[in-house]
Amino acid sequence: MNAKVCIIDDDKNVRNSLKEILEDEGYEVQLYASGKSCLKQLEKERPSVLFLDVWLNNEDGLEILKEIKKIYPTLPIIMISGHATIELAVQATKMGADDFLEKPLSIQTVLEKIDKVLQIKNPQIKEIQLEYDELIGNSEQILKVKQAIAQAAKTNVRVFIYGENGTGKELVARMIYKNSERKDKPFVDINCAAIPEDLIESELFGHEKGAFTGAIERRIGKFEQANGGTLFLDEICDMSLSTQAKVLRVIEEQQLTRVGGTEKIAIDVRIIAATNIDPLQAIKEGKFREDLYYRLNVIPIIMPPLRERIADIPLLLDHFLKKTIEANQLEPKVFTSAAIELLSQYNWPGNVRELKNVVERLAILTNDTKIDVDHVREGLFNFIQEKEEDFPGLDLRSARREFEKNYIIKALKQFDKNISKTAKFLGMERTHLHKKIKSLNIKIDEL
Ligand SMILES: Nc1ncnc2c1ncn2[C@@H]1O[C@H](COP(=O)(O)OP(=O)(O)OP(=O)(O)O)[C@@H](O)[C@H]1O
Ligand SMILES: [Mg+2]
Repeated sequence: MNAKVCIIDDDKNVRNSLKEILEDEGYEVQLYASGKSCLKQLEKERPSVLFLDVWLNNEDGLEILKEIKKIYPTLPIIMISGHATIELAVQATKMGADDFLEKPLSIQTVLEKIDKVLQIKNPQIKEIQLEYDELIGNSEQILKVKQAIAQAAKTNVRVFIYGENGTGKELVARMIYKNSERKDKPFVDINCAAIPEDLIESELFGHEKGAFTGAIERRIGKFEQANGGTLFLDEICDMSLSTQAKVLRVIEEQQLTRVGGTEKIAIDVRIIAATNIDPLQAIKEGKFREDLYYRLNVIPIIMPPLRERIADIPLLLDHFLKKTIEANQLEPKVFTSAAIELLSQYNWPGNVRELKNVVERLAILTNDTKIDVDHVREGLFNFIQEKEEDFPGLDLRSARREFEKNYIIKALKQFDKNISKTAKFLGMERTHLHKKIKSLNIKIDEL
C-alpha cells in the first residue's frame, strides 16, 4: 500500500507539479484548493502526510494548520510558502508544522522533506507491509507494536503479549497470524482463565475414550487442532502451575500425549501467549513458572494502555464511529472537536474495548449529525468528571484505585448490579470484573 499525500494549495500549478513529483515516486496524491474542502475529506482520506500552503485565498494557512492538528495531532504537515520568513516558520513549527517548503519547488527538496517527516514519524514505514492492518494508531507506542508484529510475522518464534484488558492483545495475535506464513493453517485460541482447572488439560491436550468419567469419546485438544498452525494461549498467567509444567514439556519435546493415552503425538504449533497480569510480578509471587516465561517470551510485545497514548484517541473515535455507522446504516455523524477533547481527557480503564463500546452507544443514541460534549456526558451517564474536581491529595496509585472503585460502583448501580451488563459497558470480561470487585473490596450487597 502506498503512502497517501494530501496537498492544499490555491495555486493550481503548484498543486499539479507537486502531484506529478509525488506520483512518480509512487505516492497516492489528493489535491485541494482550500483548507475547508480538505478538512471535510481528511477523515476519509487518512493521508500519511499533508502539504499545506501558508497563503490561501480567503483562508489563513496557519489557522487551517491549527484546526487540523487539533483533530489529527500526529499527522505530519509540511507548510509551503512563497515568502517564507523566519518568524513565520517559527510560528508554524510552534503550532505543530513538521517542516517547511519554499517556492519555487525543487523536486529534490520535496522528496527529501517527505522522506524525512515519514521517517521521523515511522522509522520502519517502508519495511512494515502488513496486509491485515486494523491496528489503529499513529502514536510511537503503536508504531513500535506494528514493527514487532511485522517482525514476528516473518518468523515462527513464540510471542508473548502483555497488556491491560481491552488494549488489543487478541487483535495483535490475530494480526501476527494473518501476516505469517501459517495464515492458511488453523488459528486456535483458548482462554486459560475461563476453563475450570479439572478440564484444562483435556482442553489443551485432548483425551482418550474412558480417560475419566464422562470421557465417552476420544477428544482432540487445542494443541492438536492447531497442528501446523498457530495456538493463542490467552490469559496464560491464570493457568495452574501443574498445567504450566505440562505445557512447558510439550513445547520442549514438541510432542504430547492425550489425557489417559500413551501414544506420543508430534506437534508443530506456533505459540502466541497473552496476559493482563504483570508476568514478572506473577513469577515473583510463584504463580507463573519462570522457565515457561522465558520459553514463551522470545518476542515480547507490550500493549500500551490507551491513557498513555491519547494521541491515538481521535483516530480510534473516528474509526469506530465510521464502522458503527456503516454496520447500522446510520446517517453520517462526526464528533465535534470539544467532544474529542473531552473523550481524550478520560482515562479509559477498559482501554480500546471500552472506547469502542462508548462510540457505538453514542453513534446509535445521538440523534444529531454532530456528537458534542453534552451527548458524550449523557452517553457516559455523567461518569466523566471534568478536571476542576476537588483535589483529593492522594498518591497516583491510591487515586487510581479510588477512581476505579467509585466508577465501578456507579456502573454497577446503573445496571442494577447485573455483572454481565456492567462488564459489557465497562468493556471488560465478566471474570475480570469479578476479580476487580473483589480486589477493590466492593460489597455488592451493600450497594
Ligand atoms: N488499536 C486498535 N485499533 C482498532 N481496534 C482495536 C485496537 N485495539 C483494540 N481494538 C479492538 O478493541 C477490542 C478489544 O481488543 P482485544 O480483544 O484484542 O483486547 P485484549 O487486550 O485481548 O482484551 P482482554 O484482556 O480483555 O482480553 C476489539 O474489538 C479490538 O478489535
Ligand atoms: Mg483478549
